[in-house]
Amino acid sequence: MYTQEMLDSVKKVEATRKERLGMEPRRMTAEEKETLLNRYHPDYRQENFSVLKIGPNKGDKVPDELAVLLQANSRVKDLDIDLTKIDYDTDVLIIGGGGAGASAAIEADEAGAKVMMVTKLRIGDANTMMAEGGIQAADKENDSPAIHYLDALGGGHYANDPKLLHKLVTEGPSAVKWLNDLGVMFDKAADGTMITTHGGGTSRKRMHAAKDYSGAEIMRVLRDEVINRGIPVVDFTSAVELILDEEGRAAGAVLMNMETGEYLVARAKTVIIATGGAGRLHYQGFPTSNHYGATADGLILGYRVGAELVYADTIQYHPTGVAFPEQIFGALVTEKVRSLGAMLVNADGEAFMHPLETRDVCAASIIRECKDRKKGVSTVEGSGVWLDTPMIDMIHGEGTIENRLPGMFRMYEKYDIDMRKIPILVYPTLHYQNGGLKINQEGLTDVENLYAAGEVVGGIHGRNRLMGNSLLDIIVFGRNAGKNAAKKSKTIKPGKLTLSHVEKFAKEMEDAGIKTDCVSPKLLPKYTHRKDE
Ligand code: FUM
Repeated sequence: MYTQEMLDSVKKVEATRKERLGMEPRRMTAEEKETLLNRYHPDYRQENFSVLKIGPNKGDKVPDELAVLLQANSRVKDLDIDLTKIDYDTDVLIIGGGGAGASAAIEADEAGAKVMMVTKLRIGDANTMMAEGGIQAADKENDSPAIHYLDALGGGHYANDPKLLHKLVTEGPSAVKWLNDLGVMFDKAADGTMITTHGGGTSRKRMHAAKDYSGAEIMRVLRDEVINRGIPVVDFTSAVELILDEEGRAAGAVLMNMETGEYLVARAKTVIIATGGAGRLHYQGFPTSNHYGATADGLILGYRVGAELVYADTIQYHPTGVAFPEQIFGALVTEKVRSLGAMLVNADGEAFMHPLETRDVCAASIIRECKDRKKGVSTVEGSGVWLDTPMIDMIHGEGTIENRLPGMFRMYEKYDIDMRKIPILVYPTLHYQNGGLKINQEGLTDVENLYAAGEVVGGIHGRNRLMGNSLLDIIVFGRNAGKNAAKKSKTIKPGKLTLSHVEKFAKEMEDAGIKTDCVSPKLLPKYTHRKDE
C-alpha cells in the first residue's frame, strides 16, 4: 500500500479535485510543445543514440541498444546450414504470431495460398494481446477518414508517409467491420451502435474498444480464425536468419527450435515479417509495457538482407506506465483512463497539463514535473505523478471504472489499491517502436518478395503514433501484406537458396572495424547474470 508520503500527497490531490472537476487545463501551443520535447523527451537525448556504420541506413542514428544488435554477428555465421534439406515448404511464410501476422495469414489463406506461421513463443504472445484502450476508425457521422488523417498527421509531427497514412485511415472503417463480423465483441450501446471515446490527439470520438482489453479480444478472435482455417502455426520456433535466392529475393528463413536449439530450413515464395516491437530492449533503462518477446528481431532480419529502416530513432514512451507498486512497474495504464476524464496531477495536487495531449508531449511533461520541477511523488524506482482516477466515476457515474476499466481495476485491486477511491501513480514506460522497416503501399520492403506488417514497420505514424492507430495498423497492413504476398507467390518459381548475404554482412562489419561478440536477433531478453558470466 501507499507510503505515508504518498498518502500525504493524496490529501493534496483530494483538496484540489472539486475545483479541477469543473476546469479544462489549457492546451500547449506548438512552440511550447517543441521546447518541451527538446528538453525532456528521451528521443532527444543524443547521448543515447549511435550512428550506424554499415547497412542500408549507414550514417543514421538509432538507439544504442538497437545499433548493437543491427551491427552484430548472425546466429548462423559459422554454421553449416544445409539449404538443400527443406524442413518446411510453403507459399507464404509469416514470421510472428501477433495480430498483424494472424491477419496476414487469414487473408493469404483466403487468397488460396499455402501459408505457414512461425512464432518464437505461442500464437498470441504478442503486443497485440496487451493492447488495452482500443482501435481507431472514422465510422461515425461527425467524423471522416480525412479528419482522422489530419489528427494522425499532427500527432506524427507531419512525418507520416502520406500514402500509408491514407491507406490506414480510409480502410479503418472496413477493418473494424471485418473484426466485428469475425466476432470481436466491441462495446456497444443498447441499440447496437459502437461506443467510441477520445484518445490523446483525436478531434473526434473514434476509439472502438472491448472494455480495457481490446487487444486480447481482437487476438482471441484472430487466433480462433487462424486455427479454424487449419493454417499451420509452428510455435516456439524463431526465425534467426532470412534466406534469399540467387537473385537476392526473399525465399525463406532459417528457423531455430527454441527448446532443442535445432536449426530448420523453411522455404517460401514470399515472406512476411510481422515480429512486432522492441520494448524488451529497455532503451535508456526504461521499463516497458511490452510482452516478453519484443526484442526487435524483425528489424535485424530485414536489415541484414538490405531492407531500409525509417525513423528507427523514434520511440514511444507511453506516458502512463505503472510507477507504483513495484511488482507491476512499467505495466500499461491505458490512455482510456485519461480519455474518461482522469487528470494528471503532481505531488501538490496541481493539474500540470491537458490530459489529452499527444503521448510524446504528455510523457515529456511528466518527466519535466518529476525531474526538473521536483513535483513528483517518490517511489522505490524513482518518482511518478498522480492519475486522478476517482474523477472517472464522479464524471460518468458510479460503476464506470468497474464497467469500462475492469482489467485496470482488478490489476490494482490485487495490491489493495482501489482506483475508484484513490489516485494511482504513473511514469512513462517504453511502449512502441514508431519507426521500423520501410514498406510501400503493398506492404513490400526494399527486398523483393519480402513483406512486413505491424509494429515492425515504420512510416505510417510518423514520429509519434496516436492511441488506437496501432491496433488499426496491424489489421489494415496485416491483411494487405497477406493478400499481396499471396498474389505474388503465385508468380514465383523457387530458385536456389543461399545465405551469401551473411558472409557479405560479416565482411562489411570487418571493413568498418566492428568487432563484437554480440549475436542477433536477440530472441529473448535476459534479466539475470551469473557473476562468472
Ligand atoms: O493506452 C492504451 O490503451 C494503448 C493503446 C495504444 O497504444 O494504441
